[in-house]
Amino acid sequence: MSAPRLAVRLIFLGPPGAGKGTQSKVLEDRFGVFQISTGDLLRKHVVDGTELGKEAKTYMDAGALVPDPIMMGMIGQQIGAIDSFILDGFPRTVAQAEALDDLLARAGKPITQVIQFGVNHDTLVRRLTGRWSNPRTGRVYHVEFNPPKVHGIDDEDGGPLMQRTDDTRDVVEKRLQIYAEQTAALKDYYRRRGLLQRIDAHASIEDVTAAILGNVNVILSEASGVEAKP
Ligand code: AP5
Repeated sequence: MSAPRLAVRLIFLGPPGAGKGTQSKVLEDRFGVFQISTGDLLRKHVVDGTELGKEAKTYMDAGALVPDPIMMGMIGQQIGAIDSFILDGFPRTVAQAEALDDLLARAGKPITQVIQFGVNHDTLVRRLTGRWSNPRTGRVYHVEFNPPKVHGIDDEDGGPLMQRTDDTRDVVEKRLQIYAEQTAALKDYYRRRGLLQRIDAHASIEDVTAAILGNVNVILSEASGVEAKP
């Protein structure tokens, strides 16, 4: 009889600019673990001009959170079909975390671990104000720390890179404040459930990837996906 398939269901928890999107993309590219980024999903709605996008944009441009009911509808659609995933930017409130627990319990797909990215305030501001990204794919670069080969052009698909409208200094400060007020409480929420693993995310992108791989409870393998640690 073959061994049951292992799944990895991670939440990347951390303030804006901590590197959640960067690391999700690395793990998705290398190991095929699907990234679910609520920020990218919302930005796609904005670009497509949907009703949801029009409503969300007012919150996003102000650095505020989009209301929980909108976010729960969006995440339910994403999680339905896949077994292993990384949640990047969700949940962001205790109400979202509780609703997610219910959703995943009904689907029989519990979260396996929560990785908390620890980064100080000055580094976050520097990362966000120097970020350029591909609005179509969500792939991110940094003018100083992770520049594209050609300025303003995505290495992968040749598409134009842009600065996000919420990466101005004022809105960044507002987003960091909202994180402290509404999202940081999730550390305790997941610590109490024995799921929280903190990593120091100040290091280089490669070193942060290594720290994540060293801290997840399974081996992510390029050849065969997810394996148990011996
Ligand atoms: P979202 O898009 O999720 O933004 P965020 O959480 O604020 O996170 P960021 O994307 O800004 O940062 P990140 O941690 O992914 O960093 P990144 O890897 O890009 O949300 C945007 C908005 O949508 C919210 O404000 C809200 O309005 C709404 N929203 C989304 N989800 C919601 C929810 N669940 N509920 C309600 N509203 C929601 O890295 C940043 C920069 O640093 C890049 O330039 C990168 O190249 C560089 N970098 C990364 N790692 C390193 C490293 N190790 N060393 C040096 N540079 C690095």
